[in-house]
Amino acid sequence: MSITRIEDAKAYLKQSEAVADRFSRLHQRSVTLEVKDLTKVFDSNKGPVTALNKVSFKAHRREFVCVIGASGCGKSTLVRILAGLETPTSGQVLLNGNAVSGPGPDRGMVFQGYTLFPWLTVKRNVMFGLLESGRSVTTAEEEAMQWIDLVGLGKFAESYPHQLSGGMKQRVAIARSLANQPKILLMDEPFGALDPQTRARMQSHLMEIWRNIDITIVFITHDLDEAIYLADRILVLRPHPGEVEEFIEVPVPQPRDPSQLLSDEFLATKHRLEQLIHPERDDLDDSLKMVRMVRIDDDIPSVL
Ligand SMILES: Nc1ncnc2c1ncn2[C@@H]1O[C@H](COP(=O)(O)OP(=O)(O)OP(=O)(O)O)[C@@H](O)[C@H]1O
Ligand SMILES: [Mg+2]
Repeated sequence: MSITRIEDAKAYLKQSEAVADRFSRLHQRSVTLEVKDLTKVFDSNKGPVTALNKVSFKAHRREFVCVIGASGCGKSTLVRILAGLETPTSGQVLLNGNAVSGPGPDRGMVFQGYTLFPWLTVKRNVMFGLLESGRSVTTAEEEAMQWIDLVGLGKFAESYPHQLSGGMKQRVAIARSLANQPKILLMDEPFGALDPQTRARMQSHLMEIWRNIDITIVFITHDLDEAIYLADRILVLRPHPGEVEEFIEVPVPQPRDPSQLLSDEFLATKHRLEQLIHPERDDLDDSLKMVRMVRIDDDIPSVL
């Protein structure tokens, strides 16, 4: 990274003409998701915990939004409220202008854990929601196969989940969510359990799918590179209580490819995210002290 870039803390705000044009077109698209003053207070045995405090943002049609923030800043709570699995204490979620008041087929969800039915084949897993929504077996089968082909698993349609790798299982989970043709796909650290190579392949695969269908994606991740690589915009939350810190327009041109990971725009954005997410050196000092204490008090063999 050049010295100028590190010194210029606002470098991530600089956009090429093509990128600025793309954002001005993006902001003109219809609003798929509107989150208004969302607050969630949980009761716990230590008293009330404000997981989210007046969180507001909008995602436009076919936009890819990543949400990042320190552990406990309310990312999963946010996505569960968007999915209708949790009710907010106050505030509102609108999907294409309609208030969300529970789970619905207009929202697909993919979590980190594999949530496939182990006793059903890949095809039957993807057909499940289609049959539930009243399709005939023949139609459900045809549609399921299209989605399975889209995620590149045509040859594994008759396999069972235990016969698949982690990445393949997540692709089935994505196909199953997309088969219901949701307006929005909600993903909570979906690639968090995958090894780095599989994860990189899944990122490219997801972007390919996103480019080919009419879907808005809200994707939660801890990984800064993943967020910058995937997102049009990155919503940064700060913890205790979870609040919006910044909504960053990623200045890296689309379509993305891995060679951009070392581009000026990419590194400037990463530098900004690091500043926002790891601002306090005191935390690091504390954790180092703990490591030292453990080493002195307990008889742990050295790994050096
Ligand atoms: N059901 C619950 N009851 C009480 N407190 C909860 C509940 N769910 C979440 N919380 C609290 O709300 C805050 C936000 O939790 P959440 O799981 O949304 O964070 P997160 O950003 O997803 O964290 P991580 O990055 O570790 O997954 C935390 O302080 C958590 O302890
Ligand atoms: Mg979480």
